[in-house]
Amino acid sequence: MSDGRHASSPFIGDDEIFVRMTLQQRLQHFLTIVTFVTLVVTGFPLIYPEWPIWSWIGLGERSFALRSLLHRIAGTGLIAASLWHVVYVMATEEGARFFREMLPKAIDIWQLVEAVGYQLGLTETLYRRGRLRGFLDRRPWWRFREPPAYGKYNWIEKFEYLAIVWGNIVMIVSGLCLWFFEAAFAIFPKPVMDIVKLVHGFEATLAFLAIVIWHMYCVHLNPEAFPMSRMWLDGKISGKLLRHHYPGWYREIEAERLEKRRLETALHWYDREKPPGWEGPRGVAGAGGEG
Ligand code: HEM
Repeated sequence: MSDGRHASSPFIGDDEIFVRMTLQQRLQHFLTIVTFVTLVVTGFPLIYPEWPIWSWIGLGERSFALRSLLHRIAGTGLIAASLWHVVYVMATEEGARFFREMLPKAIDIWQLVEAVGYQLGLTETLYRRGRLRGFLDRRPWWRFREPPAYGKYNWIEKFEYLAIVWGNIVMIVSGLCLWFFEAAFAIFPKPVMDIVKLVHGFEATLAFLAIVIWHMYCVHLNPEAFPMSRMWLDGKISGKLLRHHYPGWYREIEAERLEKRRLETALHWYDREKPPGWEGPRGVAGAGGEG
């Protein structure tokens, strides 16, 4: 695109590489993938026992004990991945920054409205047909002529992250109640335990659909990334892609670099132009004090 919002910056090369997913984040993501897929494959035979696929992969009714054992091992893996992430957020600077950046802000709600407005193209179509001209001329932002200028993490990514945090808590708590059924039954009455079982099954289906439809499409299957984004493998993004997909983040990096350049230039001139023997502001203040 040639509009100003996507114009390239002299401070950022299009082929410059930025790390968007650090090694630590990629490893956590990988452990979550492995445990989640195993949990789905070993949990769904209980909800949909009639599907022939379970016998094909050796997890049919006859392998009930194996399926059950694998589900518990993977459940323990998911707990480990979640604890790892909690420690990462609480004990490392990188993790704390990641968590702060993932927290929803007012701008995310506006960008959600912008994204829907842009996709529908309703107000822009009305405008082009001569409707609401006065209103939209005074408030051009309601025309939604461009997609939102996303920062480092957009509302889709933040929503997914929070959904995983919430989903993991629900699945771990309900999964532990099912695992240590007698201990949980001693605390909660039967109706609560029935609900726990229902919640575990429904949330599993919801999580599965959210990953297959929402996450897979947004990250890999959309026309811009198809057949797969390599981000989860190498964590890298080029300056060019960054400019197009996260223009808000791109401009932030540009502003930081511009600021750094200004400072360097100022220091350079300060170094060159100072009179011989002059020791800078501290020297001057010292001389003043002595006087
Ligand atoms: C997102 C992750 C998970 C998915 C997709 C998942 C999926 C499922 C499904 C579909 C069922 C059958 C529910 C029913 O019969 O109504 C189930 C049962 C069960 N889940 Fe999970 N689960 C997950 C996480 C966990 C965790 C973290 C634990 C343990 C800490 C766990 C432990 C259990 C246990 C003990 C059962 C009872 C059946 C069995 O013996 O396998 N699950 N799970």
